[in-house]
Amino acid sequence: MKQYPISNIRTLSDTIREFTLATPAWELAALTPGSHFRWLMPGEIGARRYSCVMFTAPATALTFAIKLNMAAASSQYLQSLKQGDKVSLEGPFNHFPQLIAPAEGRDVVIAGGIGVTPITGIVARLIVMGKHPECHYFTESRAQAVYATELTNLAGSSFHLHSSEGQKCDLAELLGTLQPDDRLHVCGSERLLSAVLDYCDDYQFPRQHIAFELFTTPFTKADTTEEGYEVEAAESGIRLQVAAGQSLLDALESAGLEPLYDCRRGECGVCALKVIEGDVEHRDFIMTPQEAATSGIIYPCVSHAKGCFLKLEL
Ligand code: FES
Repeated sequence: MKQYPISNIRTLSDTIREFTLATPAWELAALTPGSHFRWLMPGEIGARRYSCVMFTAPATALTFAIKLNMAAASSQYLQSLKQGDKVSLEGPFNHFPQLIAPAEGRDVVIAGGIGVTPITGIVARLIVMGKHPECHYFTESRAQAVYATELTNLAGSSFHLHSSEGQKCDLAELLGTLQPDDRLHVCGSERLLSAVLDYCDDYQFPRQHIAFELFTTPFTKADTTEEGYEVEAAESGIRLQVAAGQSLLDALESAGLEPLYDCRRGECGVCALKVIEGDVEHRDFIMTPQEAATSGIIYPCVSHAKGCFLKLEL
């Protein structure tokens, strides 16, 4: 953990605020496109994860754009911050897969809402590599389209803004132009990501050509189960109950087990456990439905038992 003084704060829209932190140049050199930090907030608020904004590769500043929801204690804390205040951060981390672009194929970049923050670094890096990424930015309104000007400056006429007020875009039509050599870079809401992955699976666009990151907070409702079930951890001999509204990973930790984890969002694959007995409701973003059906693997940060019992190799 390290403390950073806030060197600048900008209001980018009615709900999005930008924070720039004073940082030595050698630390900036460690940032890669898609890097994020854990912001450690005071009291019971806990930690939140925010991606870095990078319009150059390498980065020249440690900048974050954060969407505030004033009903949340974390947003109230962020709103209270002023220039010169110090914030506590851990990082950088990076879960955004870096697709090494071969000579062939296009790079298609899709950002949804505040998911644009890691996308800025991806676009900047592709341009430094001499690529010409095709960028699509989906927002509720033009007023929420933060960094649209900067992305236009980077990508020129290959940048397309899609909002309810302006240019409309049919996602299926956009994805329908993909060729097997193309690469897709995506960051946005679960709804956007699911739509993209479902389409790509249906049309057999290779998953290894898709780099994505989900933009949400850990332990959303989708990670929890509506009904409890029993779990046996075979190697440790521990039996435990997963309660309604609890994630399986949480339940394993509460029982004193120490499964590995990283993203806690079904993206990184670190928490994978072998399933010895029981059916799984797969909610991860790692496996295709076909892979999930035969994998014998569960990602407990987001997935659950389909029935009332699960036996795991743990
Ligand atoms: S912790 Fe990353 S997939 Fe579960």
